[in-house]
Amino acid sequence: MQSSSPGRSPEALVQLDRSRPRSLRSQLESALRHAIRTGRLAPGTRLPSSRALAIDLGVTRGVVVDAYDQLRAEGYIATRPGGGTTVNPHAQAPTEPSDRAPGSTAAAPPTPALYDFRPGRPDLSLVPRQAWQRAWRDGFGRLPDGQLGYGDPKGLPVLRQALADYLGRVRGVIADPDHIVVGNGFSHGLSLTAEALQRAGIDTIALEDPGQPGLQHVVEGAGARSVPCPVDGDGLDVEALTSAGHRAVLVTPAHQFPTGVVLGAQRRRALADWARAVDGFVIEDDYDAEYRFDRYPVGAVQGVLPERVVYAGTLSKSLAPGFRLGWLVVPPPLLDTIVARRGSTDLETNAPMQAALALFLERGDLDRHLRRTRRIYAGRRDALVAAVGRFLPEAELEGVAAGLHVVLRLPDGTDEQALTAAVREQGVVVYPMGDYRRSAGSVPGPALVLGYGNLTPDALAAGVEHLATAYRGLPSRRASRPGSS
Ligand SMILES: Cc1ncc(COP(=O)(O)O)c(C=O)c1O
Repeated sequence: MQSSSPGRSPEALVQLDRSRPRSLRSQLESALRHAIRTGRLAPGTRLPSSRALAIDLGVTRGVVVDAYDQLRAEGYIATRPGGGTTVNPHAQAPTEPSDRAPGSTAAAPPTPALYDFRPGRPDLSLVPRQAWQRAWRDGFGRLPDGQLGYGDPKGLPVLRQALADYLGRVRGVIADPDHIVVGNGFSHGLSLTAEALQRAGIDTIALEDPGQPGLQHVVEGAGARSVPCPVDGDGLDVEALTSAGHRAVLVTPAHQFPTGVVLGAQRRRALADWARAVDGFVIEDDYDAEYRFDRYPVGAVQGVLPERVVYAGTLSKSLAPGFRLGWLVVPPPLLDTIVARRGSTDLETNAPMQAALALFLERGDLDRHLRRTRRIYAGRRDALVAAVGRFLPEAELEGVAAGLHVVLRLPDGTDEQALTAAVREQGVVVYPMGDYRRSAGSVPGPALVLGYGNLTPDALAAGVEHLATAYRGLPSRRASRPGSS
């Protein structure tokens, strides 16, 4: 339906077409976004109430509420308590190319990111705030005065017990609460582990290639040397690790980052054999294992090799990175060094925060949250799979149905960097595999790593549609549109 009001009111700028497959909410969202970006809705413009706009456009109020919510999350609009909804005064209207003087060489300002496929990002709006607030209030209430002083660097006993129960039940981890060290996320635990390994005479850690580049920086920041170790369709190449002669490795067995493969059963055995043979250690990064959609996740490697695995978990994917909470389950040879290092640097993690997490686990709040978000993320993954099948059938999705990202394998010869740059001009941000490769040859062929956790099904479809358009516009592809050959 078309609105009939003249002028530059939002109603006049929105045209909804019910014959298009794209949802009304998504159409409304992009029309408003476009109007703000081009300055047709000026900063500070007051938008009609959701009820009034819904009546004017002939849609349900929920359609407008959802579109407003999304634009608010993207920073285009703001709602002041009691003050209605307005175009955010800080929303910049980028200069359109046609607005520039002919011959001007001024670079265009970057297009705002409309759809950001950053891998591994959970949807922060799904954090169960009420349950956490209850756990925070009640956990703090039951915290004895004595535990508000300087405590055990390993963490609150009540939290270590709750983690031991949870990890044993959900991940098959063999966890004695006395071997658990609570810290500020995985990165903190990795840094402590890299330091402890050096004290034990191990100054080089092998890292999966491709892998998360940030973790290389953490390892090197802790003074250790990092070396790449290849990954294939079965996960870490243990034979390559063995022949390189190193004694420590960081691995993501449940869901390799970023390729999305699972460490195969034979490889797990080979990894255990390697660790025993070289008197070495495995750092198991279990960052997103709670999210497996097609079956129960494979258990942690730590469960079969507790004496040689430093198991590491985090709330960064299951809840949100801002919690800065993670945990290590440490084998005896490294325990004292890690605890001493913890005690002599930042002492321990915020006690009320730990008390809240303990109760959150004990009450089953994390289990409930995971059951809910597993359904949501599985739905988003399905939406991404469907969108790729529909708009970009010449590409292939790789990686098991797990976590918050997939690998999109592009047809041979595609320039992944050129595609990334081209689609960025449409406001779509994608991440080429090259950002995660350390050696040029690791995981050959062009590919993108696409996160789907923080995009709605409509946004995923719209983003992939833009990606397909950009792909077809690449110079080397112009001659080979699907169906034209
Ligand atoms: C492979 C991998 N492991 C672990 C993490 C979590 O790190 P942290 O707990 O420090 O937020 C991330 C975050 O992006 C990651 O990509």
